[in-house]
Amino acid sequence: MPGRTVEVRVPATSANLGPGFDTLGLALSMYDELEVTALEPGTYEIEVSGSGAEEIARDPSNLVVRSIAHVFADAGIAMPGIRLVARNGVPHGRGLGSSGAAVAAGVLAAKGLLEGIVELDDEALLRLATELEGHPDNVAPALFGGLTIAWTGERGPQHKKLLVHRGVSPLVLVPGYTMSTKAARSLQPQHVPSEDAVFNVSRSALLIAALTQSPDVLLDATDDRLHQDYRAPAMPETNRLVRALRAEGFAAVVSGAGPSVLVLCDGPGSRLDAVRIAETATDTPWIPQMVAVDVRGGTVRERAEGSSSQS
Ligand code: HSE
Repeated sequence: MPGRTVEVRVPATSANLGPGFDTLGLALSMYDELEVTALEPGTYEIEVSGSGAEEIARDPSNLVVRSIAHVFADAGIAMPGIRLVARNGVPHGRGLGSSGAAVAAGVLAAKGLLEGIVELDDEALLRLATELEGHPDNVAPALFGGLTIAWTGERGPQHKKLLVHRGVSPLVLVPGYTMSTKAARSLQPQHVPSEDAVFNVSRSALLIAALTQSPDVLLDATDDRLHQDYRAPAMPETNRLVRALRAEGFAAVVSGAGPSVLVLCDGPGSRLDAVRIAETATDTPWIPQMVAVDVRGGTVRERAEGSSSQS
């Protein structure tokens, strides 16, 4: 296997989508692109450019490398050395699944490097990625694309992929600062009122209908009582923008653990109206990203012999 190179591409993801805490996720058309080469054991060469490049580890503690190592350990195969060239297009630390993308990329790279030695099916990929990420709602859409419902059953993490109604146009509003998922999760209470649990069950069920058949009910369907209010003190500007957009009828939610905002618009024109609101609703500048739903998910392919890396 040393000498084998694989090329991997993984999309950004937005988890939760309002009521679907730790369950629902959407793949979005922003990508991390990686080339991974197996080297002799113990050698690591890591180059990173793009989002988060200044903070990302260049040693075996790198999350992509750790994810590759996890798959090799699970398969009982000695870990090779790794050359990793990563071009990151997924905004880092902004609630758009950058860690899920790194984990999905590592798992897919390992699948490619182990091709012909160990076969990894979709269920194994999701299990391995969820073991690293802790929850499956970002890694499922990063691996499989589209809208995913993820849950843990008797056989471990599972997913169902759905295609989103073409009338839904996602807009992401990204601030200049980051939010740690760990810090956001530390604000979650151990117990919630049963009426809030029922509220989210109804909205999550409705959200599946809204995203696949009836975008007209997206505003009600994206309401949440299980996480956004608890986390609002840690990201007041995000909370202000979500409220301002929802007051104007836009289906706006915190993207993942924040601080970005995802708006599920009913057409490209209404995305411009949402951007105009974002320009004045808070003191924070928001970078608008008019994205599409990625339907393909993460991909891996072996680099053909003789072809070279392009930068
Ligand atoms: N469901 C996760 C959370 C997504 O909101 O904490 C972020 O990783």
